[in-house]
Amino acid sequence: MQPRILVTRHVFPEAIAILEQAGDVQYNDTSDGLSADELKAAAADKQAVVCQLTDRIDSDFMDAASDLKVIANVAVGFDNIDIPAATERGIIVTNTPGVLTDTTADLAFTLLMAASRRISEADRFLRSGQWHQWEIDMFTGHDIYGHTLGVLGLGRIGQGMAQRARGFDMRVIYHDVNRATPAQEAEWGIDYVDRETLFRESDFLSIHVPLNEHTRHAVGSAEFGLMKPTAVLVNTSRGPVVDEQALVDALESGQIASAGLDVFEEEPTVHPGLLALENVVLVPHIGSASIKTRTRMCTMAAENAAAVLAGKRPPNPVNPEILDAN
Ligand code: DGY
Repeated sequence: MQPRILVTRHVFPEAIAILEQAGDVQYNDTSDGLSADELKAAAADKQAVVCQLTDRIDSDFMDAASDLKVIANVAVGFDNIDIPAATERGIIVTNTPGVLTDTTADLAFTLLMAASRRISEADRFLRSGQWHQWEIDMFTGHDIYGHTLGVLGLGRIGQGMAQRARGFDMRVIYHDVNRATPAQEAEWGIDYVDRETLFRESDFLSIHVPLNEHTRHAVGSAEFGLMKPTAVLVNTSRGPVVDEQALVDALESGQIASAGLDVFEEEPTVHPGLLALENVVLVPHIGSASIKTRTRMCTMAAENAAAVLAGKRPPNPVNPEILDAN
């Protein structure tokens, strides 16, 4: 009998073509997704699930899908999935690393530039018919070149951000639980600093850590208290890494100058305090949203699922200990 596959939401069609070669596909071809109960019912007889960061895949779900072999997430982040629960049940979880690095770093740099040069604010001003004359101090922002970028989390995307900053003659400092080697630091032109120094010295602070129990609210009032009043915060990682209420307070009080945000604590809800502020640039979690990258993310997830169903090692396991044990 053919393996059965559930695709929880709309994906690029190239992924469906791969999955159809691998088994019988039940495709929920909408962007709305399924309720928790619908998801459980749909997965009950499946061996593979291709899901997205908007699907909560918890132990309850896994218990309802007793035949499940693989959960293929169409994202590099996997905080939507209970990994220990999957590992305990022998279910392989996969993600899509690498392909979205540059696209996401591009967006992070876009937010950095837009926030410091007040692009959204100026755009709103112009469109609303308020522009009557050139003025010497109109929408004056902060320079980017020659300033200091602080990278919190030097994974692939953090490195991509550092690479972009070098093209703008920026000094790059970083903090990570894992320090790069001296040779890498020299090659990438970056300096390791302790956490406090990172917040104190950065003109731009860009967050690139995954969301887990150590990073939830890792940036909050204590950190904003260390930052320069001219500093710009950029977050393209996960919303809950930042304490959103503390961010609103810091922006309102002038503790920091501005922020560029792609991710939010309670997506798709955005804190009303952020919506009310002029000095923030807000975009709806589009870090990896280029056609090429999103297509590749979908096909990677499909390839991961297909590999497991064919009894092969998937290219991108998140819990490889299951495979290594066999
Ligand atoms: C991810 O992959 O984790 C992003 O948040 C969406 O591309």
